[in-house]
Amino acid sequence: MTQSKTDTALEHIVSLCKRRGFIFPNSQLYGGLQGAYDFGPMGVELKRNLISTWWRDVVYRRTRMFGLDSSILTHQKTLKYSGHAETFCDLMTDCRQCKSRWRVDHLDPDNPRCENCGSDDLTEPKPFNLMFKTNLGAVTSEASSAYLRPETAQGIFTNFKFITDTQPAKLPFGVAQVGKAFRNEITPRHFIFRVREFEQMEIEFFVDPEESDQWHKYWVEERLQWWVAQGLSAENIQCEAQTGDELAHYARATTDILYKFPHGFEELEGIANRTDYDLAVHSKSQDTLSPQSKVSENPDSTTRLAIQHTETKNWQIPFVIEPSAGVERGILALLTEAYHEETLDNGNKRTVLKLAPHLAPIKVAIIPLAKNKPELITLAESIQHELQADIDGPVVIENSGNIGKNYRRHDEVGTPVCITVDFDSLETTTSDANLINTVTLRDRDTLKQARIHKHDLLTYLQQNYFNYRYKPKSFNQ
Ligand code: GAP
Repeated sequence: MTQSKTDTALEHIVSLCKRRGFIFPNSQLYGGLQGAYDFGPMGVELKRNLISTWWRDVVYRRTRMFGLDSSILTHQKTLKYSGHAETFCDLMTDCRQCKSRWRVDHLDPDNPRCENCGSDDLTEPKPFNLMFKTNLGAVTSEASSAYLRPETAQGIFTNFKFITDTQPAKLPFGVAQVGKAFRNEITPRHFIFRVREFEQMEIEFFVDPEESDQWHKYWVEERLQWWVAQGLSAENIQCEAQTGDELAHYARATTDILYKFPHGFEELEGIANRTDYDLAVHSKSQDTLSPQSKVSENPDSTTRLAIQHTETKNWQIPFVIEPSAGVERGILALLTEAYHEETLDNGNKRTVLKLAPHLAPIKVAIIPLAKNKPELITLAESIQHELQADIDGPVVIENSGNIGKNYRRHDEVGTPVCITVDFDSLETTTSDANLINTVTLRDRDTLKQARIHKHDLLTYLQQNYFNYRYKPKSFNQ
Protein backbone atom coordinates (compact mmCIF):
# COMPACT_ATOMS: atom_id res chain seq x y z
CA MET A 1 0.00 0.00 0.00
CA THR A 2 1.27 3.48 -0.83
CA GLN A 3 0.47 5.78 2.02
CA SER A 4 0.75 9.41 1.17
CA LYS A 5 -0.44 12.54 2.87
CA THR A 6 -0.24 15.46 0.53
CA ASP A 7 -2.08 18.71 1.10
CA THR A 8 -5.75 17.98 0.82
CA ALA A 9 -7.87 20.14 -1.45
CA LEU A 10 -11.00 21.46 0.22
CA GLU A 11 -13.22 20.13 -2.61
CA HIS A 12 -12.26 16.55 -1.71
CA ILE A 13 -13.34 17.06 1.88
CA VAL A 14 -16.57 18.81 0.87
CA SER A 15 -17.37 15.99 -1.52
CA LEU A 16 -16.66 13.26 1.06
CA CYS A 17 -18.76 15.09 3.64
CA LYS A 18 -21.75 15.17 1.30
CA ARG A 19 -21.27 11.66 -0.09
CA ARG A 20 -21.00 10.00 3.32
CA GLY A 21 -23.45 12.02 5.38
CA PHE A 22 -21.17 14.31 7.39
CA ILE A 23 -22.13 17.85 6.37
CA PHE A 24 -24.77 19.17 3.99
CA PRO A 25 -25.35 22.72 2.71
CA ASN A 26 -28.39 24.10 4.52
CA SER A 27 -31.62 24.46 2.47
CA GLN A 28 -29.99 23.24 -0.70
CA LEU A 29 -33.36 22.42 -2.20
CA TYR A 30 -34.10 26.16 -2.16
CA GLY A 31 -30.71 27.14 -3.54
CA GLY A 32 -28.87 27.08 -0.20
CA LEU A 33 -28.56 29.50 2.70
CA GLN A 34 -25.14 31.10 2.59
CA GLY A 35 -22.98 30.54 5.63
CA ALA A 36 -25.20 27.81 7.10
CA TYR A 37 -24.46 24.07 7.11
CA ASP A 38 -26.23 21.05 8.57
CA PHE A 39 -24.53 18.09 10.20
CA GLY A 40 -25.79 14.73 8.89
CA PRO A 41 -25.79 11.36 10.68
CA MET A 42 -21.98 10.95 10.53
CA GLY A 43 -21.21 14.63 11.13
CA VAL A 44 -23.37 14.86 14.22
CA GLU A 45 -21.52 11.92 15.80
CA LEU A 46 -18.13 13.47 15.03
CA LYS A 47 -19.29 16.80 16.41
CA ARG A 48 -20.74 15.30 19.59
CA ASN A 49 -17.57 13.27 20.13
CA LEU A 50 -15.40 16.37 19.80
CA ILE A 51 -17.58 18.38 22.17
CA SER A 52 -17.92 15.62 24.76
CA THR A 53 -14.17 14.98 24.71
CA TRP A 54 -13.58 18.69 25.25
CA TRP A 55 -16.09 18.81 28.10
CA ARG A 56 -14.63 15.73 29.76
CA ASP A 57 -11.04 16.96 29.48
CA VAL A 58 -11.80 20.54 30.44
CA VAL A 59 -14.41 20.09 33.16
CA TYR A 60 -14.19 16.54 34.60
CA ARG A 61 -10.43 16.04 34.35
CA ARG A 62 -9.79 19.24 36.27
CA THR A 63 -10.78 20.63 39.61
CA ARG A 64 -12.38 24.07 40.00
CA MET A 65 -14.21 23.94 36.68
CA PHE A 66 -17.96 24.53 36.45
CA GLY A 67 -20.31 24.24 33.49
CA LEU A 68 -22.93 26.61 32.15
CA ASP A 69 -25.56 26.66 29.43
CA SER A 70 -26.80 30.21 28.98
CA SER A 71 -29.37 31.43 26.50
CA ILE A 72 -28.61 32.43 22.93
CA LEU A 73 -30.97 35.40 23.04
CA THR A 74 -28.99 38.18 24.64
CA HIS A 75 -30.10 41.40 26.34
CA GLN A 76 -29.23 44.47 24.30
CA LYS A 77 -27.59 46.01 27.36
CA THR A 78 -25.25 43.07 27.79
CA LEU A 79 -23.89 43.72 24.32
CA LYS A 80 -23.97 47.47 24.77
CA TYR A 81 -21.78 47.36 27.89
CA SER A 82 -19.57 44.56 26.55
CA GLY A 83 -18.67 46.91 23.69
CA HIS A 84 -20.00 44.62 20.96
CA ALA A 85 -22.82 46.92 19.85
CA GLU A 86 -20.28 49.61 19.02
CA THR A 87 -17.14 47.77 18.07
CA PHE A 88 -17.93 44.25 16.89
CA CYS A 89 -17.53 45.24 13.26
CA ASP A 90 -15.58 44.35 10.14
CA LEU A 91 -14.76 46.92 7.50
CA MET A 92 -16.66 46.29 4.29
CA THR A 93 -16.55 47.69 0.80
CA ASP A 94 -18.96 47.42 -2.14
CA CYS A 95 -18.00 46.81 -5.74
CA ARG A 96 -19.61 49.54 -7.85
CA GLN A 97 -19.49 47.33 -10.94
CA CYS A 98 -21.11 44.05 -9.84
CA LYS A 99 -22.60 45.25 -6.52
CA SER A 100 -20.99 42.48 -4.50
CA ARG A 101 -19.80 43.18 -0.97
CA TRP A 102 -16.39 42.33 0.49
CA ARG A 103 -14.57 42.30 3.78
CA VAL A 104 -11.73 44.78 3.34
CA ASP A 105 -9.13 42.69 5.17
CA HIS A 106 -9.83 39.76 2.83
CA LEU A 107 -8.76 41.76 -0.23
CA ASP A 108 -5.19 42.32 -1.39
CA PRO A 109 -4.07 45.36 0.67
CA ASP A 110 -1.74 46.62 -2.11
CA ASN A 111 -4.22 46.19 -4.94
CA PRO A 112 -7.77 45.77 -3.61
CA ARG A 113 -10.07 44.38 -6.27
CA CYS A 114 -13.49 42.79 -6.32
CA GLU A 115 -13.04 39.00 -6.05
CA ASN A 116 -16.09 38.52 -8.23
CA CYS A 117 -15.48 40.73 -11.28
CA GLY A 118 -11.91 41.98 -10.72
CA SER A 119 -12.90 45.66 -10.71
CA ASP A 120 -10.97 48.10 -8.51
CA ASP A 121 -13.97 50.46 -8.43
CA LEU A 122 -14.72 49.91 -4.73
CA THR A 123 -16.53 52.17 -2.26
CA GLU A 124 -14.83 53.67 0.80
CA PRO A 125 -14.56 51.07 3.57
CA LYS A 126 -17.23 51.37 6.24
CA PRO A 127 -17.83 49.39 9.44
CA PHE A 128 -20.44 46.65 9.40
CA ASN A 129 -21.68 45.26 12.72
CA LEU A 130 -21.65 41.45 12.70
CA MET A 131 -24.40 40.86 15.24
CA PHE A 132 -27.81 39.48 14.36
CA LYS A 133 -30.49 41.68 15.86
CA THR A 134 -34.00 40.44 16.58
CA ASN A 135 -37.09 41.51 18.48
CA LEU A 136 -38.73 39.92 21.49
CA GLY A 137 -42.52 39.74 21.65
CA ALA A 138 -45.24 41.16 19.49
CA VAL A 139 -44.11 44.77 19.41
CA THR A 140 -41.15 45.63 17.23
CA SER A 141 -39.31 48.61 18.64
CA GLU A 142 -35.84 49.57 19.78
CA ALA A 143 -36.84 48.73 23.36
CA SER A 144 -37.83 45.17 22.39
CA SER A 145 -34.63 44.47 20.48
CA ALA A 146 -32.23 41.74 21.50
CA TYR A 147 -29.35 39.94 19.84
CA LEU A 148 -28.33 36.41 19.01
CA ARG A 149 -25.10 36.05 20.97
CA PRO A 150 -21.92 36.62 18.93
CA GLU A 151 -19.89 34.66 21.52
CA THR A 152 -20.94 32.34 24.34
CA ALA A 153 -18.66 34.19 26.76
CA GLN A 154 -21.05 36.99 27.74
CA GLY A 155 -23.43 34.50 29.35
CA ILE A 156 -20.63 33.46 31.68
CA PHE A 157 -19.91 37.04 32.73
CA THR A 158 -23.54 37.95 33.31
CA ASN A 159 -24.03 34.77 35.39
CA PHE A 160 -20.84 35.36 37.37
CA LYS A 161 -22.62 36.20 40.62
CA PHE A 162 -25.02 33.25 40.37
CA ILE A 163 -22.08 30.93 39.85
CA THR A 164 -19.90 32.32 42.63
CA ASP A 165 -22.86 32.44 45.05
CA THR A 166 -23.83 28.83 44.42
CA GLN A 167 -20.51 27.04 43.81
CA PRO A 168 -17.29 26.75 45.83
CA ALA A 169 -15.58 29.20 43.49
CA LYS A 170 -12.21 30.39 44.76
CA LEU A 171 -9.59 31.85 42.43
CA PRO A 172 -8.41 30.41 40.19
CA PHE A 173 -11.54 28.74 38.80
CA GLY A 174 -13.15 28.35 35.43
CA VAL A 175 -16.53 28.20 33.75
CA ALA A 176 -16.96 26.18 30.57
CA GLN A 177 -19.70 26.54 28.02
CA VAL A 178 -20.44 25.04 24.61
CA GLY A 179 -23.08 26.44 22.35
CA LYS A 180 -24.17 28.29 19.27
CA ALA A 181 -22.89 31.72 18.34
CA PHE A 182 -24.01 33.84 15.41
CA ARG A 183 -22.15 36.34 13.26
CA ASN A 184 -23.43 37.99 10.15
CA GLU A 185 -20.16 37.44 8.32
CA ILE A 186 -19.81 39.65 5.24
CA THR A 187 -18.19 36.85 3.26
CA PRO A 188 -18.69 33.34 4.67
CA ARG A 189 -16.14 31.05 3.00
CA HIS A 190 -13.99 27.93 3.00
CA PHE A 191 -16.86 25.51 3.72
CA ILE A 192 -17.45 25.41 7.50
CA PHE A 193 -14.41 27.53 8.32
CA ARG A 194 -16.24 30.86 8.30
CA VAL A 195 -19.99 30.54 8.73
CA ARG A 196 -22.81 32.62 10.15
CA GLU A 197 -24.03 30.07 12.67
CA PHE A 198 -21.46 28.00 14.53
CA GLU A 199 -20.61 26.54 17.91
CA GLN A 200 -17.98 27.63 20.35
CA MET A 201 -16.28 25.72 23.16
CA GLU A 202 -15.28 28.44 25.59
CA ILE A 203 -13.64 28.60 29.00
CA GLU A 204 -13.55 31.72 31.11
CA PHE A 205 -10.82 31.06 33.65
CA PHE A 206 -10.86 33.62 36.47
CA VAL A 207 -7.52 34.40 38.08
CA ASP A 208 -5.76 36.81 40.38
CA PRO A 209 -4.72 39.79 38.19
CA GLU A 210 -1.11 39.38 39.33
CA GLU A 211 -1.05 35.84 37.95
CA SER A 212 -2.78 36.41 34.63
CA ASP A 213 0.33 36.18 32.43
CA GLN A 214 1.30 32.79 33.82
CA TRP A 215 -2.24 31.44 33.43
CA HIS A 216 -2.35 32.71 29.88
CA LYS A 217 0.81 30.73 29.14
CA TYR A 218 -0.63 27.69 30.94
CA TRP A 219 -3.74 27.67 28.79
CA VAL A 220 -1.91 28.21 25.48
CA GLU A 221 0.24 25.17 26.21
CA GLU A 222 -2.68 23.08 27.44
CA ARG A 223 -4.87 23.84 24.49
CA LEU A 224 -2.08 23.11 22.04
CA GLN A 225 -1.48 19.70 23.63
CA TRP A 226 -5.17 18.95 23.59
CA TRP A 227 -5.51 19.51 19.85
CA VAL A 228 -2.52 17.22 19.29
CA ALA A 229 -4.26 14.59 21.47
CA GLN A 230 -7.26 14.84 19.13
CA GLY A 231 -5.04 13.80 16.22
CA LEU A 232 -3.75 17.07 14.75
CA SER A 233 -0.06 16.79 14.01
CA ALA A 234 2.21 19.30 15.69
CA GLU A 235 3.76 20.37 12.37
CA ASN A 236 0.35 21.52 11.14
CA ILE A 237 -0.14 23.80 14.15
CA GLN A 238 1.38 27.18 14.87
CA CYS A 239 0.94 29.71 17.64
CA GLU A 240 0.75 33.38 16.86
CA ALA A 241 0.49 36.32 19.21
CA GLN A 242 -1.93 39.00 18.03
CA THR A 243 -0.60 42.51 17.86
CA GLY A 244 -1.99 46.06 17.70
CA ASP A 245 -5.22 46.30 15.72
CA GLU A 246 -5.66 42.52 15.64
CA LEU A 247 -6.50 42.49 19.35
CA ALA A 248 -10.19 42.53 20.23
CA HIS A 249 -11.39 45.57 22.16
CA TYR A 250 -11.41 43.58 25.42
CA ALA A 251 -8.05 41.83 25.16
CA ARG A 252 -4.67 42.70 26.60
CA ALA A 253 -3.02 39.74 24.88
CA THR A 254 -4.27 36.97 22.60
CA THR A 255 -2.42 33.97 21.25
CA ASP A 256 -4.04 32.20 18.34
CA ILE A 257 -3.61 28.51 17.67
CA LEU A 258 -3.43 28.29 13.89
CA TYR A 259 -4.02 25.10 11.92
CA LYS A 260 -2.91 24.38 8.38
CA PHE A 261 -6.37 24.27 6.77
CA PRO A 262 -6.60 23.51 3.04
CA HIS A 263 -6.61 27.28 2.38
CA GLY A 264 -3.59 27.91 4.63
CA PHE A 265 -2.69 28.49 8.27
CA GLU A 266 -5.64 30.16 10.04
CA GLU A 267 -7.13 30.49 13.50
CA LEU A 268 -8.56 27.38 15.11
CA GLU A 269 -8.70 28.69 18.66
CA GLY A 270 -7.82 31.95 20.39
CA ILE A 271 -6.56 32.24 23.97
CA ALA A 272 -7.12 35.76 25.26
CA ASN A 273 -6.27 37.62 28.41
CA ARG A 274 -9.49 39.65 28.73
CA THR A 275 -8.30 41.29 31.96
CA ASP A 276 -11.14 42.45 34.21
CA TYR A 277 -12.76 44.19 31.26
CA ASP A 278 -15.99 42.20 31.05
CA LEU A 279 -16.77 41.82 34.74
CA ALA A 280 -16.00 45.49 35.26
CA VAL A 281 -18.22 46.75 32.46
CA HIS A 282 -21.19 44.67 33.66
CA SER A 283 -20.67 45.54 37.31
CA LYS A 284 -22.93 48.03 39.05
CA SER A 285 -20.55 50.25 40.98
CA GLN A 286 -16.88 50.68 40.38
CA ASP A 287 -15.94 52.49 43.58
CA THR A 288 -14.87 49.53 45.70
CA LEU A 289 -13.41 47.63 42.82
CA SER A 290 -10.06 47.16 41.16
CA PRO A 291 -8.32 50.14 39.60
CA GLN A 292 -7.68 47.92 36.52
CA SER A 293 -11.21 48.59 35.37
CA LYS A 294 -11.34 50.78 32.29
CA VAL A 295 -14.96 51.88 32.57
CA SER A 296 -16.42 54.48 34.83
CA GLU A 297 -20.00 53.49 35.72
CA ASN A 298 -22.71 51.11 34.61
CA PRO A 299 -25.99 52.73 35.72
CA ASP A 300 -28.07 49.85 34.31
CA SER A 301 -26.53 46.90 36.14
CA THR A 302 -27.96 45.88 39.51
CA THR A 303 -25.09 43.61 40.50
CA ARG A 304 -21.50 43.85 41.62
CA LEU A 305 -19.41 41.26 39.80
CA ALA A 306 -16.44 40.63 42.03
CA ILE A 307 -15.05 38.05 44.39
CA GLN A 308 -13.80 38.32 47.95
CA HIS A 309 -10.12 37.70 48.41
CA THR A 310 -9.72 34.63 50.67
CA GLU A 311 -7.19 36.28 52.99
CA THR A 312 -7.65 40.06 52.82
CA LYS A 313 -11.45 39.76 52.38
CA ASN A 314 -11.24 42.71 49.98
CA TRP A 315 -13.47 42.57 46.97
CA GLN A 316 -11.56 42.23 43.71
CA ILE A 317 -12.48 41.79 40.08
CA PRO A 318 -10.54 38.82 38.80
CA PHE A 319 -8.84 38.82 35.42
CA VAL A 320 -10.04 36.23 32.97
CA ILE A 321 -8.13 33.98 30.59
CA GLU A 322 -10.32 32.77 27.76
CA PRO A 323 -9.52 29.76 25.56
CA SER A 324 -12.16 29.96 22.83
CA ALA A 325 -12.37 27.30 20.12
CA GLY A 326 -14.74 26.93 17.20
CA VAL A 327 -16.36 23.51 16.86
CA GLU A 328 -16.75 23.78 13.07
CA ARG A 329 -13.12 24.81 12.68
CA GLY A 330 -12.13 21.91 14.92
CA ILE A 331 -14.09 19.53 12.70
CA LEU A 332 -12.57 20.97 9.52
CA ALA A 333 -9.08 20.65 11.01
CA LEU A 334 -9.74 17.03 12.03
CA LEU A 335 -11.14 16.17 8.60
CA THR A 336 -8.19 17.84 6.86
CA GLU A 337 -5.72 15.92 8.98
CA ALA A 338 -7.56 12.61 8.70
CA TYR A 339 -8.25 12.65 4.95
CA HIS A 340 -5.95 10.30 3.01
CA GLU A 341 -6.00 8.88 -0.49
CA GLU A 342 -4.02 5.67 -0.86
CA THR A 343 -3.10 3.17 -3.52
CA LEU A 344 -3.45 -0.43 -2.38
CA ASP A 345 -1.08 -3.25 -3.34
CA ASN A 346 -3.59 -4.49 -5.92
CA GLY A 347 -3.58 -1.07 -7.59
CA ASN A 348 -6.98 -0.06 -6.27
CA LYS A 349 -7.35 3.34 -4.67
CA ARG A 350 -9.10 4.10 -1.43
CA THR A 351 -10.03 7.20 0.50
CA VAL A 352 -9.72 6.82 4.24
CA LEU A 353 -10.43 9.08 7.18
CA LYS A 354 -7.84 8.35 9.84
CA LEU A 355 -9.77 9.86 12.71
CA ALA A 356 -8.74 9.08 16.28
CA PRO A 357 -11.00 6.19 17.41
CA HIS A 358 -12.62 8.21 20.21
CA LEU A 359 -13.80 10.75 17.62
CA ALA A 360 -14.87 8.34 14.87
CA PRO A 361 -18.63 8.48 14.14
CA ILE A 362 -18.94 4.68 14.01
CA LYS A 363 -16.76 2.70 16.38
CA VAL A 364 -17.06 -0.84 15.03
CA ALA A 365 -18.71 -2.36 11.96
CA ILE A 366 -19.56 -6.07 12.05
CA ILE A 367 -19.82 -7.62 8.62
CA PRO A 368 -21.26 -11.11 8.02
CA LEU A 369 -19.20 -12.47 5.13
CA ALA A 370 -22.14 -13.88 3.27
CA LYS A 371 -25.50 -12.24 2.80
CA ASN A 372 -28.75 -13.69 4.13
CA LYS A 373 -27.16 -16.47 6.21
CA PRO A 374 -29.17 -16.49 9.43
CA GLU A 375 -26.38 -18.24 11.43
CA LEU A 376 -23.88 -15.51 10.54
CA ILE A 377 -26.37 -12.75 11.29
CA THR A 378 -27.18 -14.31 14.66
CA LEU A 379 -23.48 -14.43 15.54
CA ALA A 380 -22.99 -10.83 14.33
CA GLU A 381 -25.95 -9.71 16.45
CA SER A 382 -24.65 -11.44 19.55
CA ILE A 383 -21.25 -9.73 19.11
CA GLN A 384 -22.98 -6.40 18.52
CA HIS A 385 -25.03 -6.88 21.69
CA GLU A 386 -21.91 -7.64 23.76
CA LEU A 387 -19.87 -4.71 22.43
CA GLN A 388 -22.66 -2.16 22.51
CA ALA A 389 -22.89 -2.33 26.27
CA ASP A 390 -19.31 -1.15 26.75
CA ILE A 391 -18.24 0.76 23.69
CA ASP A 392 -19.18 4.41 23.75
CA GLY A 393 -20.65 4.91 20.28
CA PRO A 394 -22.34 3.08 17.44
CA VAL A 395 -21.50 -0.58 16.79
CA VAL A 396 -23.25 -1.41 13.53
CA ILE A 397 -23.95 -4.49 11.45
CA GLU A 398 -23.37 -4.20 7.71
CA ASN A 399 -25.35 -6.82 5.88
CA SER A 400 -25.26 -5.65 2.28
CA GLY A 401 -23.18 -8.68 1.29
CA ASN A 402 -20.44 -6.90 -0.67
CA ILE A 403 -17.48 -6.86 1.66
CA GLY A 404 -15.35 -4.59 -0.55
CA LYS A 405 -18.11 -1.98 -0.64
CA ASN A 406 -18.56 -2.20 3.12
CA TYR A 407 -14.85 -1.69 3.73
CA ARG A 408 -14.83 1.32 1.37
CA ARG A 409 -17.76 2.92 3.14
CA HIS A 410 -16.26 2.39 6.59
CA ASP A 411 -12.81 3.61 5.49
CA GLU A 412 -14.45 6.80 4.24
CA VAL A 413 -16.38 7.47 7.43
CA GLY A 414 -13.34 6.60 9.56
CA THR A 415 -14.56 3.43 11.33
CA PRO A 416 -11.37 2.30 13.09
CA VAL A 417 -12.10 -1.42 12.96
CA CYS A 418 -14.27 -3.81 10.97
CA ILE A 419 -15.06 -7.31 12.23
CA THR A 420 -15.99 -10.01 9.76
CA VAL A 421 -17.81 -13.14 10.81
CA ASP A 422 -17.48 -16.08 8.43
CA PHE A 423 -18.38 -19.74 8.31
CA ASP A 424 -15.23 -20.69 10.22
CA SER A 425 -16.65 -18.70 13.11
CA LEU A 426 -19.52 -21.16 13.39
CA GLU A 427 -19.30 -24.36 15.35
CA THR A 428 -21.54 -26.25 12.97
CA THR A 429 -19.59 -25.58 9.79
CA THR A 430 -15.88 -25.45 10.59
CA SER A 431 -13.60 -28.43 10.85
CA ASP A 432 -10.97 -26.45 12.74
CA ALA A 433 -11.86 -26.31 16.44
CA ASN A 434 -9.47 -23.37 16.98
CA LEU A 435 -11.55 -21.15 14.73
CA ILE A 436 -14.90 -21.69 16.42
CA ASN A 437 -16.24 -18.42 17.74
CA THR A 438 -13.31 -16.46 16.34
CA VAL A 439 -13.74 -13.48 14.05
CA THR A 440 -11.44 -11.40 11.83
CA LEU A 441 -10.57 -7.85 12.79
CA ARG A 442 -9.44 -5.51 10.03
CA ASP A 443 -7.56 -2.39 11.05
CA ARG A 444 -8.59 0.72 9.09
CA ASP A 445 -5.14 2.29 8.88
CA THR A 446 -2.76 -0.66 8.41
CA LEU A 447 -5.28 -3.04 6.78
CA LYS A 448 -3.73 -5.75 8.96
CA GLN A 449 -6.06 -8.56 9.97
CA ALA A 450 -6.14 -10.51 13.23
CA ARG A 451 -8.21 -13.53 14.25
CA ILE A 452 -9.67 -13.03 17.73
CA HIS A 453 -11.98 -15.13 19.91
CA LYS A 454 -15.30 -13.39 20.39
CA HIS A 455 -14.90 -13.45 24.17
CA ASP A 456 -11.60 -11.54 23.88
CA LEU A 457 -12.97 -8.92 21.51
CA LEU A 458 -13.99 -6.27 24.00
CA THR A 459 -10.67 -6.32 25.86
CA TYR A 460 -8.76 -6.30 22.58
CA LEU A 461 -10.74 -3.33 21.28
CA GLN A 462 -10.42 -1.42 24.54
CA GLN A 463 -6.67 -2.00 24.70
CA ASN A 464 -5.92 -1.30 21.06
CA TYR A 465 -8.53 1.23 19.96
CA PHE A 466 -10.70 2.76 22.63
CA ASN A 467 -7.95 3.74 25.02
CA TYR A 468 -8.05 7.54 24.72
CA ARG A 469 -6.62 9.22 27.81
CA TYR A 470 -5.86 12.87 28.33
CA LYS A 471 -4.17 14.07 31.45
CA PRO A 472 -4.12 17.84 31.81
CA LYS A 473 -1.35 19.59 33.65
CA SER A 474 -2.60 20.19 37.16
CA PHE A 475 -3.41 23.73 38.24
CA ASN A 476 -0.97 23.33 41.11
CA GLN A 477 2.15 22.44 39.10
N1 GAP B 1 -15.16 34.82 23.01
C1 GAP B 1 -14.03 35.07 22.19
C2 GAP B 1 -14.31 34.93 20.79
O1 GAP B 1 -15.44 34.75 20.37
P1 GAP B 1 -13.17 34.82 18.45
O2 GAP B 1 -11.72 34.72 18.08
O3 GAP B 1 -13.98 35.86 17.77
O4 GAP B 1 -13.20 34.99 20.02
C3 GAP B 1 -13.40 32.26 18.88
O5 GAP B 1 -13.87 33.41 18.21
C4 GAP B 1 -13.37 31.09 17.93
O6 GAP B 1 -14.66 30.92 17.34
C5 GAP B 1 -12.41 31.24 16.77
O7 GAP B 1 -11.10 30.84 17.11
C6 GAP B 1 -13.02 30.31 15.74
O8 GAP B 1 -12.60 28.98 15.97
C7 GAP B 1 -14.52 30.41 16.02
N2 GAP B 1 -15.18 31.31 15.06
C8 GAP B 1 -15.24 32.65 15.11
N3 GAP B 1 -15.94 33.13 14.07
C9 GAP B 1 -16.33 32.06 13.34
C10 GAP B 1 -17.09 31.89 12.14
N4 GAP B 1 -17.64 32.93 11.51
N5 GAP B 1 -17.28 30.64 11.68
C11 GAP B 1 -16.78 29.57 12.33
N6 GAP B 1 -16.06 29.68 13.46
C12 GAP B 1 -15.84 30.89 13.97
